[in-house]
Amino acid sequence: MSLVPPYIASLRPYEAGRTIEDVRAHYGLTHIAKLASNENPLGASPLALDAVRGAMDHLNLYPNGGLDLRRVLAHEFGVRVENVITGSGSEGIMSNIIRTFLGDEDEVLTTEAAFIGFQVLARGRGVTYRTVPYRDWHYDLPALAAAITERTKIVYLANPNNPTGTIFTRAEFDDFYRHVPERVLIILDEAYYEYARDNARYPDSMHYRYDNVITLRTFSKAYGLAGMRIGYGFAHEELIGNLLKVKLPFEPGTLAQASGIGALADKAFLHRTLELNARGLECLSRRFREMGLTVVPSEANFLMLVLDSEAKAAALVEELLKQGIVTRPLKAFGLPNCVRISTGTDDDNRRAVEAMERTLEALEGIDHGTGLPAAQRHGPR
Ligand SMILES: Cc1ncc(COP(=O)(O)O)c(C=O)c1O
Repeated sequence: MSLVPPYIASLRPYEAGRTIEDVRAHYGLTHIAKLASNENPLGASPLALDAVRGAMDHLNLYPNGGLDLRRVLAHEFGVRVENVITGSGSEGIMSNIIRTFLGDEDEVLTTEAAFIGFQVLARGRGVTYRTVPYRDWHYDLPALAAAITERTKIVYLANPNNPTGTIFTRAEFDDFYRHVPERVLIILDEAYYEYARDNARYPDSMHYRYDNVITLRTFSKAYGLAGMRIGYGFAHEELIGNLLKVKLPFEPGTLAQASGIGALADKAFLHRTLELNARGLECLSRRFREMGLTVVPSEANFLMLVLDSEAKAAALVEELLKQGIVTRPLKAFGLPNCVRISTGTDDDNRRAVEAMERTLEALEGIDHGTGLPAAQRHGPR
């Protein structure tokens, strides 16, 4: 007899993207561009690293639950410390939201193929998980509003969205918000906020603070601190107060907290990151479109490619891998014919374009049903 409830037994453990060492050893390559996890190709913010070094002398002491970073964030964004929470990545806070607000009978509502981290956390809670299809790879906010039921407790929206890279606009969100009852908590996941914030149509959620909206952000992407596990959120003090009851008391760790404080001060690094990303998005999307690929317009640090079959998507990922370009197949998200590729350094992007050219040539003649080159699809004679 299984010791776990069926909703846990049916989950699959998270499969991390392949590591650089793994790909290097397996394919005997010297140069690898890891473009699978939307990480920062410039490394970590130098000021964050300085702050981490400075904090190393105090590792014998317990951390203060993120209070120092909460104060800095409150000052930076013009809110009160009671409106700010920090955690082990934005996913750590997401996990606490699920534990704090969901009862057994509640439902969670989001888009199809939502960010996989949220899918896993919500399904792992054993509640009903409902989705609404994308409209042209965007959240269908009117359909989501219409799908809210008496039992809906959380609506999860990522803006920009992972894996599509698309945004919903301020006007679209305002209209959606008018249709959401106050008893429904909206999670606005802004993990890619920094990449989109200069778009005039992007609804920076700090401009409107509603009582039932929690904004999540992270240092993992634009500040290059994915390995640190540090994220933050803004919400009404009552929501934050309840989250503080549930979170691990000593989360985030001392080094993670210090890195966040250092990173926030590093405007120069953020600027370089955003410039590099804008160049990368422009170059990759233009060149891939010229090759005839379907590229979803992105406001984040990655692009989604739509292939015409699962077999073709899988073959594309594998052929790119052999050439040292690591991309993310999106089958686990629920989009088996799609592939996601992050922007890299200028050199990574150039290599990715060249590898894609060679790959598409090699894939011509692939049988879409089997993924096998045409010559092999009837099997040996
Ligand atoms: C939409 C979205 N939200 C949250 C996260 C998780 O970020 P963190 O590293 O802060 O947990 C990611 C990471 O890929 C993401 O794409």
